[in-house]
Amino acid sequence: MTKLSVEQQKFLAAAAALTFVENKMIVGLGTGSTAEFAIRLLSEEVKAGLKITGVPTSVATAKLARRLKIPLADDLGTFKKIDLTIDGADEVDPQLNLIKGGGGALAREKIVASRSDRFVIVVDEKKLVTQLGKFPLPVEVLPFGWRSTLEILRDLGARVKLRQKDARTPYRTDNGNYIVDCVFGKMTNPPVLAQQIKSIAGVVEVGLFISRVDLVLVGRRDGRIEEKWAA
Ligand code: A5P
Repeated sequence: MTKLSVEQQKFLAAAAALTFVENKMIVGLGTGSTAEFAIRLLSEEVKAGLKITGVPTSVATAKLARRLKIPLADDLGTFKKIDLTIDGADEVDPQLNLIKGGGGALAREKIVASRSDRFVIVVDEKKLVTQLGKFPLPVEVLPFGWRSTLEILRDLGARVKLRQKDARTPYRTDNGNYIVDCVFGKMTNPPVLAQQIKSIAGVVEVGLFISRVDLVLVGRRDGRIEEKWAA
């Protein structure tokens, strides 16, 4: 029996997402290793004549896309609508709720996802979970008052940790903010938790993506591609 590696599973899912890209589309470009496969494949199609405009969800993705000569919009430009966004995820539950932000790009990813007509997630099969919460939930917070914001997150029941760049320096997002990684354990009600966290003053964005996904493409170990459409 075929046994694909995680990288091969990611590639498979990314390649499947490319079938949804059409000429003249505005395409949201996700962040992370799985999205990178999709971006590289997209650049091949651009080279072959496909006309698209990419909207990057991070500085890293913008750099990669520029290097690969994918035409980009500045920032979000004036686009209120993006035709299609392809992005990765850290966890996907059976309702297609997500944890995202392992790469720190959650705020821009959520803005781009929320403006997208179609939001397609590409993952390897390890990302599928029965309940969200094993992967530490990234929460982007303003540096001002961050210690107090972190304590409020702790009061919600999480083990919390300020993400570090190195032993002395906190990690900074592309927006200049901090990330608090929160381990809640299995989340019983992700939609409520997302609202609770988002309503804390000092929180910029939370890495819970609730009811936003249209399609999850899963690259399976056995070489199959599973399509999970939102109900
Ligand atoms: C980036 O901030 C994240 O949301 C990524 O999309 C997520 O961490 C998945 O990354 P990989 O595809 O590298 O696992």
